[in-house]
Amino acid sequence: MPSTAPAPPIAMLAELTYRCPLSCPYCSNPVEMARKESELETATWIDVFEQAARLGVLQLHLSGGEPASRRDLVTLVAGARKAGLYTNLITSAIGLTQRRLAELDAAGLDHIQLSLQGTDADMADRIGGYQGGFARKMQAAEWIVEAGFPLTLNAVVHRQNLHQLPEAIDLAVALKARRMEVAIVQFHGWAMLNRGAMMPTRAQADEATRIVAQARKRLKGVMVIDYVPADYHSDYPKRCMGGWGSTGLNVTPDGLVLPCHAAQTIPSLEFENVHDVPLADIWYNGAAFNAYRGEDWMQAPCKTCDRRTKDFGGCRCQAMAIAGDAAATDPVCIKSPLHAKMTALAHEFAEGDTPELVYRKSP
Ligand code: SF4
Ligand code: FES
Repeated sequence: MPSTAPAPPIAMLAELTYRCPLSCPYCSNPVEMARKESELETATWIDVFEQAARLGVLQLHLSGGEPASRRDLVTLVAGARKAGLYTNLITSAIGLTQRRLAELDAAGLDHIQLSLQGTDADMADRIGGYQGGFARKMQAAEWIVEAGFPLTLNAVVHRQNLHQLPEAIDLAVALKARRMEVAIVQFHGWAMLNRGAMMPTRAQADEATRIVAQARKRLKGVMVIDYVPADYHSDYPKRCMGGWGSTGLNVTPDGLVLPCHAAQTIPSLEFENVHDVPLADIWYNGAAFNAYRGEDWMQAPCKTCDRRTKDFGGCRCQAMAIAGDAAATDPVCIKSPLHAKMTALAHEFAEGDTPELVYRKSP
């Protein structure tokens, strides 16, 4: 247990379903996914939203898979809104018609985040593994803005599409997005299987940082750009999840409550289900949530590092994946004994031959 009582969470990510018409090879969903028949029922999700609001959650992110694959999406949004939550839909837009958007608006949906796999049909449909997806997405973006929703465009960039980053930024402006998230692919879930095909080169990673910095200046007052840099090429890790068990929680389609979307890759952790345990108990007392909260669990060099309250030692899942120990310093960190290994891996994956993409399979 951490030495001080945790604060309540601010945000909850509800992964409504793992079903998805797209099959992006960098999907953060687990490689082993829950089947449709084990998805939570409508009433259970709404009860979870109400529990979340009582616990202190302010923002609800409705995600998947593709959340629009749930026929009850409008009912779920209405339930979340009734519970007093700010609702954000994270979608590929496949399955969103103009009529459904109007229903979501009437149900109280606050914001939409639209994914972007590329800036033309060739790239976007190949990376998303869905023919015709790009055209439908562009149409949906127009409808979203016409309906009055604030739009954020989420662009995941990697070795195969990073050359399109300037066009992607222009596209976001043309689509009247208020915000854009440029995220260099993070290697969890399916992306772990595709490191050889998607790892950016060091030069690409540096160029992306430069392009984003310039665009931020140029677009001040027009569009905000959030940026997730290429961590394999970084010297310090990101503050993953804002710190484990500190600001957010994830609920999987079948009701497991996780401290982050990749937490199931840490084999020593056991997770509780909303069917069995109240959400507040899981947040405050769950062993998985308390495993890496605060600083008590830290080892050297994090334990005495003056950045430890800024990044909380980086990402636990990355420490597990590369160091084989979820309590190790994130190997992205220059102070980690495995930093050189991380740099060598980045180089090896970025400069080697490009293997075929392994596409995500829907359950
Ligand atoms: Fe962060 Fe740990 Fe590296 Fe310090 S040693 S910068 S706390 S990851
Ligand atoms: Fe799990 Fe970073 S993805 S802590």
